[in-house]
Amino acid sequence: MPNDENVLNHISFIMDGNGRWAKKRLLPREFGHREGAKKFRDIVEYCLEYKKIKYVSVYAFSTENWKRPEKEVKGILNLFYDYMNTCIKENDKNKMRVRFLGNRSVFSESYQAKMAETEQVTSKYERTLGICINYGGKDEIVDAVNKLIAEGKTTITKEDITNTIYTGVMPPPDMIVRTGGEYRLSNYFMWQSAYSELFFTKTLWPDFSKKEVDELVEEYKGRQRNFGGVKNA
Ligand code: IPE
Ligand code: IPE
Ligand code: MG
Repeated sequence: MPNDENVLNHISFIMDGNGRWAKKRLLPREFGHREGAKKFRDIVEYCLEYKKIKYVSVYAFSTENWKRPEKEVKGILNLFYDYMNTCIKENDKNKMRVRFLGNRSVFSESYQAKMAETEQVTSKYERTLGICINYGGKDEIVDAVNKLIAEGKTTITKEDITNTIYTGVMPPPDMIVRTGGEYRLSNYFMWQSAYSELFFTKTLWPDFSKKEVDELVEEYKGRQRNFGGVKNA
């Protein structure tokens, strides 16, 4: 039974399938990431501006993705560097707050400075894009617990963890969409996904479309969210 009360505040994407998209065309994987980056810009804009969803987040680079060839890793990180410059330059037009979620201490000083600048320049806007980069769900929880211990806490509550993980003020995702046909979360939003509605599509990320966003959002509206309770008890 459709549930008209399903408010969609936060949609999240595991952008998977760039490599296979390139392989199908006999192109190097980097080409897939470049196409994927273009698609990311389109879909984010569509969700925030057209669908009026307040929070969008994306899984861009995981703590496990460092296992990939150096050339591919550099290519992905450079694409996000370019994107940060665009966000800074076009902040008046996009009117969105950009936040980076993940452990940024491994990045070069200039990369970290660009992240900080992007966050600072866009901080005046309300609708938010969270970019998970060097993000790992397990690391996130361990980091939060260690931070709380360092602050002197001896007993830790769920609220403490919720407030200390990278997403902080962002609400948990109502929808998590994984493209690319894999049926797993790959260390994504382990804490935040407790009651997220999960969607999996075989579409490779560079082939993903606004139409498919529309279809998935419609499907979401038909989902019954119980949070452990009983509807109309
Ligand atoms: C997702 O696409 C992008 C990142 C993980 C950075 P993949 O590169 O994992 O694409 P496939 O899964 O190999 O097709
Ligand atoms: C998940 O995709 C990470 C991102 C989309 C950034 P992967 O391609 O790294 O996931 P696995 O290795 O197939 O689980
Ligand atoms: Mg993949």
